Amino acid sequence: MLLNRITKSNFININKSCLKNYFCSVSSGSSTTTSTTTTTTTANLLKVKRDDRFSYLNKDDISVFKKIMNDESGVITDADDLVGYNHDWMNKYHGNSQLVLRPKSTEQVSQILKYCNERRLAVVPQGGNTGLVGGSVPVHDEIVLSLQSMNKIHEFDSVTGVLTCDAGCILESLEQYLEPRGFTVPLDLGAKGSCQIGGNAATNAGGIRLLRYGSMHANVMGVEAVLADGTIVDCLSTLRKDNTGYDLKQLFIGSEGTLGVITKLAILTPAKPTSVHVALLSCDSFDEVKKLLIEAKKQLGDILSAFEFMDRSCIDVVLEHQPQAREPFDSKFKFYVLLEVSGFNEQHDNEKLNSYLEDVISRKMVADGTFASDSKSIAEFWKLRETITESLGKAGAVYKYDLSLPMDQFYNIVEVMKERLAGKNNSMVCGFGHVGDGNLHLNISTPKQKYNKEFLGLIEPFVYEFTSKHNGSISAEHGIGAMKTEQLHHSKTNSAIQLMRSIKQTMDPNGILNPYKVLPN
Ligand code: FAD
Ligand code: MLT
Ligand code: ZN
Repeated sequence: MLLNRITKSNFININKSCLKNYFCSVSSGSSTTTSTTTTTTTANLLKVKRDDRFSYLNKDDISVFKKIMNDESGVITDADDLVGYNHDWMNKYHGNSQLVLRPKSTEQVSQILKYCNERRLAVVPQGGNTGLVGGSVPVHDEIVLSLQSMNKIHEFDSVTGVLTCDAGCILESLEQYLEPRGFTVPLDLGAKGSCQIGGNAATNAGGIRLLRYGSMHANVMGVEAVLADGTIVDCLSTLRKDNTGYDLKQLFIGSEGTLGVITKLAILTPAKPTSVHVALLSCDSFDEVKKLLIEAKKQLGDILSAFEFMDRSCIDVVLEHQPQAREPFDSKFKFYVLLEVSGFNEQHDNEKLNSYLEDVISRKMVADGTFASDSKSIAEFWKLRETITESLGKAGAVYKYDLSLPMDQFYNIVEVMKERLAGKNNSMVCGFGHVGDGNLHLNISTPKQKYNKEFLGLIEPFVYEFTSKHNGSISAEHGIGAMKTEQLHHSKTNSAIQLMRSIKQTMDPNGILNPYKVLPN
């Protein structure tokens, strides 16, 4: 029997303020008026020319927006206040917007877009700005349309479990609303303290619960969205079943703000499990990780709620950058699996997990392990996994790849990349992610904060070609954003890209919504 070895309150604290602090430490870009250091704009980084179709913002426009908003606090033009909206969470993508609008209602979003469409002013919808592919910040001078002030919960049906709310609701606040009612959001990710449910839908975010509850495509029952010309599309159904023609809401899910601005959502929320147990297991090889997954699916079945992995380099970077983090075992191992079971029958779930653990230990699939059943220790385990991203951000520049790969190639790309980059730029290659969903986060870290073009050339296009060759996806869950527009062809055929273009043309003929994103330029 595996011992519950958690005795120390060791790990870390990632929360909203932590994200915000990181965010605030971003130095302003050369193109913003508050500039103190030189920062490469996204336009320069990705060599994207400003589209001539778009007008430049003038004073009259600002007056119109002030009238629409009917409240000056929703119209931000102050250079210092614009900074946080112009830079992404990673401090990698930098835009030059001179205006942020924070509407309070769908009607205001509609009026803003109608005006922008007529004036040919480009717009970037922005949620919590935690996106990792540069989709949420301007490339040039697009107006930022922030959903921050649209954050009301409208309705919750405790029979169906459907929650209807504004797009700007913070993911964690929805969880806090649902928890005392015995329900939970079917989505969980490290950025939960800052990301918004509208942003989650717009990116079709995955996260750690996808294994159990499925994607946003499965859990969003209805969407209200505003098209580029200001038309409000009401598909805010709360029905589980509705086969009345095309499922239009799906177009907005995963479209990253290029087809419409999501203003409200109806989400199917499951009952919150009352018994939760987490095991942290270590393995000497990735083959063992795969075996653990196979057995977890077989033996734990419907109570398996997460199956995450991280390699040793991830643990090292967390230990280095999170002061409260501590080595989880007496020895170091190559791989670590974070496995969660959750259900409604404490004894049954506990027995099932124990029997699984006994089995995998006796068959030598595990080198060492520990498990937790109390919420504090469980949270501490999760911190180890959830702060990898933040720790990598603190370590220097991060070259991030979010891949779906078949299991036989899943960790191979990490090994291949390690060989390829050995001795180059003091780089560190690590792999972690949602192995239960076939989703690898391949991250390459270099100590200098600046991204290096020559070094990038060693990684790309190789990583995309490798993924394409093995029938993987170049974006499993983060989206295309500004980062991968020119790589889309690695995962989509020409005819599929052409169909995407025609949908875009139909819904946003002037191309004002999140230009330079998703589709190749
Ligand atoms: P933003 O970053 O503001 O925007 C993302 C995109 O959506 C942009 O293209 C933007 O234009 C568009 N958008 C935002 N709101 C709207 C709207 N209302 N209508 C239309 N378009 C809109 N992602 C995962 O999938 N899984 C993870 O496990 C995960 N973990 C993360 C952990 C950390 C620490 C961080 C920093 C990020 C993580 N992410 C993860 C990435 C990110 O949190 C998700 O992509 C998230 O869904 C973005 O939500 P947001 O509100 O911050 O959107
Ligand atoms: C995660 O799973 O932690 C996220 O997708 C963030 C990342 O890839 O860095
Ligand atoms: Zn992820």
